[in-house]
Amino acid sequence: MPTREHPRTFRVKSLGCQMNVYDGERMAELLADQGIAPAVDGQDADLVVLNTCHIREKAAEKVYSDIGRLVKAGGDNPPMIAVAGCVAQAEGEEIMARAPAVGMVVGPQAYHRLPAMIAKALRGERATDTDMPADAKFAALPPRRRVAPSAFLTVQEGCDKFCTYCVVPYTRGAEISRPFGELVAEAQRLVEAGAREVTLLGQNVNAWRGEDAKGCATGLDGLIRELAKLPDLQRIRYTTSHPADVTDGLIAAHGEIDKLMPYLHLPVQSGSDRVLKAMNRSHTVDGYLRLLERFRAARPDIALSGDFIVGFPGESEAEFGETLRLVEAVGYAHAFSFMYSPRPGTPAAAMNGQVAREVMEERLQRLQAALGRHQLAFNQASVGSRCAVLVERKGKKPGQWLGKSPWLQSVFFEGDAAIGDLVEVELAAAGPNSLAGELLVPAAA
Ligand code: SAH
Ligand code: SF4
Ligand code: F3S
Repeated sequence: MPTREHPRTFRVKSLGCQMNVYDGERMAELLADQGIAPAVDGQDADLVVLNTCHIREKAAEKVYSDIGRLVKAGGDNPPMIAVAGCVAQAEGEEIMARAPAVGMVVGPQAYHRLPAMIAKALRGERATDTDMPADAKFAALPPRRRVAPSAFLTVQEGCDKFCTYCVVPYTRGAEISRPFGELVAEAQRLVEAGAREVTLLGQNVNAWRGEDAKGCATGLDGLIRELAKLPDLQRIRYTTSHPADVTDGLIAAHGEIDKLMPYLHLPVQSGSDRVLKAMNRSHTVDGYLRLLERFRAARPDIALSGDFIVGFPGESEAEFGETLRLVEAVGYAHAFSFMYSPRPGTPAAAMNGQVAREVMEERLQRLQAALGRHQLAFNQASVGSRCAVLVERKGKKPGQWLGKSPWLQSVFFEGDAAIGDLVEVELAAAGPNSLAGELLVPAAA
């Protein structure tokens, strides 16, 4: 690689889960701290960070088309390209071999070392860093300065569950929990930087364990209780949780902490016990339903969300039918559903009975139709009620605002408000993906 000039502008493009979005924000802050400015919308950047996702084949392949596009658009003066995220972790060497335009490959646990890698790239050397030092990066990152009203806070990383279809345990490593005090301090800084809502993130967020200020062992509910004491923090959410890590304390927290929003994202993946076993999910359908019942007993208005995979190897039509039955039984407010994608190195990729693509497509369509029906019904059921809406941004129409209800529904309304306000809205009309509301009273200061 030739030597080059120090980049003046950067762009970070994040794909994948919310944890990647969080990492992308932290990388942007780190680059800004190095005196590199975010590129203006529509203009080319001198340094582009592709923060990638490896979860399904389509997501993983996207990195190569993105690199091709950047090289083409750059002509004689292509940008410095860094590949970060889970594809970097999983396929770093392959990327370096396949894409000579890439100067840096940096894994999700090593991005705090980007400045040193940029220095190397300036000397014309390509650099790969996919080490996984436990919790080193957070201490090395600059403090948060300005954030949106709804901010992410990664509290837990990695996964020890080894579902047979999933790459996350390989790309993100073993489960680690960030220390209690560090998280309380970061949440405090997020609030000072403008956050009114914090979403605690983890690949298995409810596997978070720590010691509180008194040195007592505590779980996610203890952390939530502490964060709820921050006066200007109005809402707390968490995602993604795993059924095996749900505790009595977490369920109880939903009934006791007003700031903890009535929303639970608890992926189930399949409605068939045989498939769940083959997936190594460590829960049964019945066990999952019993957990949901307990959450509903603690917080009757809790909105439920889940993840589903159709076409896992060996899934029969009858087993898929069990997933549809589960969807009818639960009545999800929202859900994500995917066609199974065989991932290199995972046990499921080598299993017999891989399901034909057309069959998966047809099952996904039926599942999404059912989930869509429930989502619309959930939204329609809220019409006529009043709720608090956290204003996140302006809408497309003049005078229009967009915010979130406690149940994570997008709500549009017009009137006198500002980003970051918590306003009272009457919900007037519902669509599949959003609601229209009428502003009642401005938030009390
Ligand atoms: N830790 C979380 C989510 C991890 S990834 C959990 O266990 O629930 C987000 C979702 O992607 C998963 O819940 C699953 O539904 C989906 N997913 C993961 N691997 C996949 C694969 N190989 N093919 C299709 N979907 C997959
Ligand atoms: Fe993947 Fe399963 Fe871990 Fe979720 S719990 S990240 S699906 S291995
Ligand atoms: Fe994708 Fe990595 Fe998140 S594989 S879903 S970016 S943990």
